[in-house]
Amino acid sequence: MALSDAPLLRALRGDRPAQTPVWFMRQAGRSLPEYRELRVGTRMLDACLTPDLAAEITLQPVRRHGVDAAVFFSDIVIPLRLAGVDVVIEPGRGPVFANPVRSADDVQRLTAIDPADLDGTAIAAAVKIVTDELGGTPLIGFAGAPFTLAAYLVEGGPSKEHLQARAMMHADPDSWNRLAGWLGQVSRRFLEIQRDAGASVVQLFDSWAGSLSPADYRAFVAPHSHAALDGIGIPTIHFGVGTGPFLADMRLDGVADAVGVDWRQPLDEAAAILGPDVTVQGNIDPALLGAPWPVLEAHVLDVLERGRAARGHILNLGHGVPPETDPDQLTRIVELVHSR
Ligand code: CP3
Repeated sequence: MALSDAPLLRALRGDRPAQTPVWFMRQAGRSLPEYRELRVGTRMLDACLTPDLAAEITLQPVRRHGVDAAVFFSDIVIPLRLAGVDVVIEPGRGPVFANPVRSADDVQRLTAIDPADLDGTAIAAAVKIVTDELGGTPLIGFAGAPFTLAAYLVEGGPSKEHLQARAMMHADPDSWNRLAGWLGQVSRRFLEIQRDAGASVVQLFDSWAGSLSPADYRAFVAPHSHAALDGIGIPTIHFGVGTGPFLADMRLDGVADAVGVDWRQPLDEAAAILGPDVTVQGNIDPALLGAPWPVLEAHVLDVLERGRAARGHILNLGHGVPPETDPDQLTRIVELVHSR
C-alpha cells in the first residue's frame, strides 16, 4: 500500500478507511519487556540520541502490536538538550533542569540561543532507519508544546500545578511571551528535522495545558503552539490532557488536522464542539488497560461508536500507556479495532 493511502493519513484527511487506524501514545517504552532489555545501562536521553537504539525502540511496538503508525522514540526535552540546556530525565520522576528559568535575565540568556543552530544529525539518522524499514506505515514525529515545556523549565522539574510558569504569564508577560515564543521555535525546529528525514505526521503534546484557564490558554499559550505547527506542510495532531473547557481552541484556527481528546470527554461530545473540519484522536481511559478484557473490550467498542460522530477517527488512549500495562491488552485492542 502506498504511504499516502495508509489508514492514519486517510483519517487525517477526514476519510473513513475500512479499518479505523490505531496507535498508542507511549507505545514505545516501559510496558514492553524488549524495551526494558535494550535500555539496560543507557540513560534515557542518551538512548534517544543513539540512532540505532532509538530506531529499534521505535519499531518494537509496530512489530509486536501491528499498530497503524510508529511514534518516534525520543522526548519532548531532546531539542532543549540539543540547544545546550542541562537537562536529565530522572527515572520515575521526569525531566529535571540544572538551571530553572525564572527571572527576566534567565529568559534573556536562554532565548539568545538560535533554534536554527540545533544539531539534528542523530535525530535525522534515527528517523531514516525507521522510515526505511516501515515502508507503507507512517512515522509520527512529535514535539512538546511551549506551555508543557515551560511547565518543566520554569519549575526546574515536574510539578502538579505548574504554579511558577502560570505566575510568570501574569507577573512578567514580556518574559513569558519571549520564553514561550522561543520554545515554540525550538519545538518547530525539532518537528522540521523529523519531517525532513521522513516522518509523515507530527503531533504536538500539550500534556499539562489542562492546568490553564481558557482565558490564559487563549492569551498566553495558543499563539505560541500555533507558531510551532503553522505551515509545517504535513498533517498535524494537537493533543492535550484536561482541555475540555477550551477544546475548540485546540484546533489552533485550522492548523490542527486532528485534535487529541483525553478520557474525560466522550468523543461524540468532543466532535460536536470541534465541528466538521477536524478529525478526533482518542480516547480509551488508560486506567481500563488494567481491567479484565471483557470490560476493556466494551469500553473500546463504545469509544469506536462515539468516534463515528467526527469526520474521521484515530483510535488511541486518552493519555500515555501506563508502564505497568500488560502489552497483550494493547495487542488485543489493535485486533479488535481492525476486526470491526
Ligand atoms: O510515545 C512514545 O512511545 C514515543 C516516545 C515518547 C517519550 N516521551 C519516551 C519516554 C514521547 C512521545 C514522549 C513525550 C513526553 N515526554 C511527554 C508528553 C507525553 C505525555 O506522556 O504526556 C512528556 C510530558 C514527557 C516528559 C517525560 N519524559 C516524563 C514525564 C517522563 C517519565 C519519567 C518517569 O520515569 O516516570 C519521561 C521519560 C520517558 N520518555 C520515558 C519514555 C519511554 C521513560 C524512560 C524510561 O524508560 O525510564
